Amino acid sequence: MKPVDSHRADAAPPPTDGRALPAGGPSAADLACDPGRRHALAMLLPAAPILPVFAAGSAPASRASPHAVAASPAARHTFIDFAPVGPHTDATVHVPDGYRWQVVVGSGDRIHGATAGGANPAGAGDALRFGQNCDGMALFEHRGHQLLAVNNEFASGAGVPPGTRSAIRDAQQAQGISIIEIIERAQGWQPVMNSPFNRRVTHTSPIRLLGPAAGHALLRTDADPEGRTSLGALATCGCGRTPWGTYLSCEENFQAYFGASGGLPAAASSLIARGRSRYGLVAHGGQGSYHQGDPRFDLSRHPNEAHRAGWVIEIDPARPDAIPLKHTGLGRFKHENAEVVLARDGRVVVYMGDDERGEFIYRFVSHGVYVHAGDTAGLLDEGTLFVARFNDDHSGRWLALTPQSTGMADIAEIAIFTRLAGSAVGATTMDRPEWIAVHPDTAEVYCSLTHNPARGHGHNAGGDPMPVNGPNPRPLNRYGQILRWRPADGDHAAIDFDWDLFAVAGNPAVHHDHRAGSANIHAGNLFNSPDGLSFDRRGRLWIRTDGNDSNQGDFAGMGNNQMLVGDPLSGAIARFMTGPKGCEITGHCWSADRRTMFAGIQHPAARWPDGQAPGRSAVIAIKREDNGLMG
Ligand code: FEO
Ligand code: CA
Ligand code: CA
Ligand code: CA
Repeated sequence: MKPVDSHRADAAPPPTDGRALPAGGPSAADLACDPGRRHALAMLLPAAPILPVFAAGSAPASRASPHAVAASPAARHTFIDFAPVGPHTDATVHVPDGYRWQVVVGSGDRIHGATAGGANPAGAGDALRFGQNCDGMALFEHRGHQLLAVNNEFASGAGVPPGTRSAIRDAQQAQGISIIEIIERAQGWQPVMNSPFNRRVTHTSPIRLLGPAAGHALLRTDADPEGRTSLGALATCGCGRTPWGTYLSCEENFQAYFGASGGLPAAASSLIARGRSRYGLVAHGGQGSYHQGDPRFDLSRHPNEAHRAGWVIEIDPARPDAIPLKHTGLGRFKHENAEVVLARDGRVVVYMGDDERGEFIYRFVSHGVYVHAGDTAGLLDEGTLFVARFNDDHSGRWLALTPQSTGMADIAEIAIFTRLAGSAVGATTMDRPEWIAVHPDTAEVYCSLTHNPARGHGHNAGGDPMPVNGPNPRPLNRYGQILRWRPADGDHAAIDFDWDLFAVAGNPAVHHDHRAGSANIHAGNLFNSPDGLSFDRRGRLWIRTDGNDSNQGDFAGMGNNQMLVGDPLSGAIARFMTGPKGCEITGHCWSADRRTMFAGIQHPAARWPDGQAPGRSAVIAIKREDNGLMG
């Protein structure tokens, strides 16, 4: 199964002549940096300057754009402390001089058994092997053990006819979540074979349903009449981690596994019918199409099964026997990641994007407060979901999803059909929200909007229009942008926020209109389709891409997919790493001592990492030659 979230899923749009320019966009300071592009981007000017938020103690408050501090050499020196790598189009990984990388673990590598290695890229997956197509990941330190939790988003070709029972069974075991203990030895980082912490959660593992939708009639099936235990972590894409040390794994393109052998059965209500359509559930199935060999995924027979996927899963890496949990209070949609922070009063706030054209950005705010070492039960189950509205004047507001505001029966319905609830309150349709990351010192929140060629002329699956607007400022958006917002008073529970665009990707060598991008995009850092985002402890924004790597036409000079570093203060962006041809750079995290950075290489087309075809997804470790801190 190919990654359905990749740029390949988007039909190439016709070229635009730059008409229908938007009301919002890069700051005046962006344009002032580059007179040649001032005219082309003039129509993108915001109506009013945005209040910047500076890193604590780093700069005085000012009404100037954050980009106005671009001239600060100190900030650049601090944040971009490496020689950027050029664009590459070859079959390997490139990092700056003074750094090195190695493969830690790849698709099909054994994590139990007598010997390490034994890669099984053909996909005859079993639960004793590291899963395929690594995506989001996080590292947890537990009593001196370093436990790496990794999502395995989809299955590669299994080498047998798709849809057969055995191919489906293999694929189901190759996906989900891998938790492995890793250790740094003289020869580098490697999995600890047979560690008691090594664990697979597959597409058949029991997962307990919690929160408002647990037990609801729409989640009950013949096999689970209580509606409280689903099977499998499906299409696990981005991730998160809680303050209490657990891993969050987010189900994204779950619909692709379902189909209906006898056609979709009559829906019992218009809500259910609209839900099917909105979530892309179709009789012929998607790229997984398990229904051809596993009746559980046949909506003709088990129409409620699809309501049991599309959630955020919590798993405790330190408790390998504990059953994972699906938290329905966090809503059901094509979850990218789940960025967890605390509001000023200790309530738990979870920021989440729904990665589909014209879908929304959400926030969950718990009712209870987090207390260190206290009871955390209910903190991801009992609370309020909000959806974001962005105004062209750079203000924004979180709209609560309640029975009153949505007209839906109860919070269980809102949880199950979150997209319909978002539409009911008038949320802003976005250019495919991918990862969200919160700055470690300020309350700034960053979100990748990967691209959306239908912006300006299409609708989302619910019929909500996608006009050009402030945070989505370009028609036929092929390059993507990185949005950020600042909660009022720096409190993540606040209702209001201000927003601006940290970067608008583009190609100034090819285009001289809005497709050139913002002024912090230049020949040395060209990229498209920002996807993964994370902050290091120094406040550097790490940007990972999942874009068009043809290196031609609109994408000339961008090379393979890559990881860049952004400076929130100056707006400077520099390329840190490039991946092998055909790959996407996915998950990202650090070792406990911060001297190693881990990154995911997903679906390389090149013969990587071991010269064999097809290439294999793998987690790599990146270190400084001097063993210095990596962030
Ligand atoms: Fe699996 Fe939206 O990335
Ligand atoms: Ca992917
Ligand atoms: Ca993507
Ligand atoms: Ca992604």
